[in-house]
Amino acid sequence: MSLLAIADLSVQFESRSGTVPVLDHIDFAINTGERVALIGESGCGKTVFGMSVMRLLPSNARITGSALYAGRDILRASEREMQQIRGKKIAMISQNSAFALNPVLTVGDQIAESLTLHTSCRGEGLEREVIRLLTSLGIERPKENMQKYPHEFSGGMRERILIAMALACNPDLVIADEPTSGLDALVKAQTLRLLKSVMQDRTLLLITHDLGTASALASHTAVLYAGEIVEYGPTHELFRHPMHPYTQGLLASSPSAGFHPIPGMSPAPGQVPHGCRFCPRCSSAMDRCNSTHPSLKKSGNNRQVRCLRYD
Ligand SMILES: Nc1ncnc2c1ncn2[C@@H]1O[C@H](COP(=O)(O)OP(=O)(O)O)[C@@H](O)[C@H]1O
Ligand code: SF4
Ligand SMILES: [Mg+2]
Repeated sequence: MSLLAIADLSVQFESRSGTVPVLDHIDFAINTGERVALIGESGCGKTVFGMSVMRLLPSNARITGSALYAGRDILRASEREMQQIRGKKIAMISQNSAFALNPVLTVGDQIAESLTLHTSCRGEGLEREVIRLLTSLGIERPKENMQKYPHEFSGGMRERILIAMALACNPDLVIADEPTSGLDALVKAQTLRLLKSVMQDRTLLLITHDLGTASALASHTAVLYAGEIVEYGPTHELFRHPMHPYTQGLLASSPSAGFHPIPGMSPAPGQVPHGCRFCPRCSSAMDRCNSTHPSLKKSGNNRQVRCLRYD
């Protein structure tokens, strides 16, 4: 059984100028032990997806569909139930470590917060646990460093502290949103190595626009375009033999492939083409791609693709 099974998830935002659809009928599952990356260009709805699962979207968001976690639909859970789930069962490593940490609390207090909320750890036991977490994330002199404030650390160290906070209560599922963005190449490589080792036996939803991060960490990858999943499969297969023209374009546009950008731009939310949403940018488009909306279909062993060429 899947640890998290999302079915028919749609998210829209109400704004003064009308309703803006961002995610459209998403089906998505993570089994225990899988590390699934959700990739796609900036603005395609990756963060909104993660926030939907955490039930942390702002009040102008309208969510429909279901998200079964251990058999319970968390989209229908009360806020009280979500407080039991967030941090304890499902924990998030938020985007942008500079803002995700509280500037007026020491990092030790911030890590202890979640432990105090969800476990019976107190006093010396609590301090020992914070020290153990910091040590396991390669933070030297943990006793001294836990007394410091976030601004006293580098970006890479703050990222480690965020990871320590997420792992504090040994959650079933970790959601990491752009865990390597804003880090320079050397620190990024170190953070990736660290994430790889600490996530080895865990279940991870990795949200990233960075293909290198996805290929380093994820067992499976889902590709999001204009609010829809357009391709899914085991990461090494999907990267070696991308099926969807958008995935092919993403790979060709990566720095390691020589930076060949996909022509055009993603459609603005609410202004998606009638047929295939990628059609205006697709070099493989056929006549019927303009008028027929492809569905996500199984293709071979554990792969799925949304493209009329594979019908
Ligand atoms: N609170 C909000 N109100 C209206 N639109 C929003 C809100 N939050 C996000 N969006 C829109 O949702 C889309 C997806 O955003 P996001 O999930 O942050 O993209 P990504 O993480 O893939 O870069 C964007 O077009 C963004 O403008
Ligand atoms: S359905 Fe047509 S336009 Fe869409 S990705 Fe496939 S070939 Fe390109
Ligand atoms: Mg984002």
